[in-house]
Amino acid sequence: MLNEKMEAAINGQINAEIYSSYLYMSMATWFDEKQLPGMAHWMRVQAQEEMTHAYKFYAYVNERGGRVRLTAIEGPETDWASPLAVYEAVAEHEAKVTGLCNGLMDLALELKDHASVSFMQWFIDEQVEEEASAAEVVGKLKLIEGDASGLFMMDNELGARVFNVPVWLKL
Ligand code: FEO
Repeated sequence: MLNEKMEAAINGQINAEIYSSYLYMSMATWFDEKQLPGMAHWMRVQAQEEMTHAYKFYAYVNERGGRVRLTAIEGPETDWASPLAVYEAVAEHEAKVTGLCNGLMDLALELKDHASVSFMQWFIDEQVEEEASAAEVVGKLKLIEGDASGLFMMDNELGARVFNVPVWLKL
């Protein structure tokens, strides 16, 4: 049985993951408007991944005999100054999510909830990748700042991102 505090914290995280998905969808719409379809596609893939994170938490709460409670999702930002500003916002957001995941891990340790410690380890590892991929795009966009052909090439590169349905996804 899932501890009440852990259940409430994971429900909060489900909201945060769905918000992340919503934020990245909003960023996708910004790129669509700017005629950067590759980056818009990258954001939609990112949004799908975030929903799978939400489902992973959802399934875990169910497995442990807890109750998932969905709450209102905050409206995301809708405007950014440049493609670089968007990806800087991604990097900043992912750093925030890492903090939330660390908080959940701290709580699991405090409660001596070993199953949740093991479960959260996946997210701790995932956040290392998420932060690294955002930082890589930010770095490349800084290199090509003001270079239209560089931006065009970056857009093509990011448009090649593929959404792979995770093997663990249980809908
Ligand atoms: Fe679900 Fe991007 O963290």
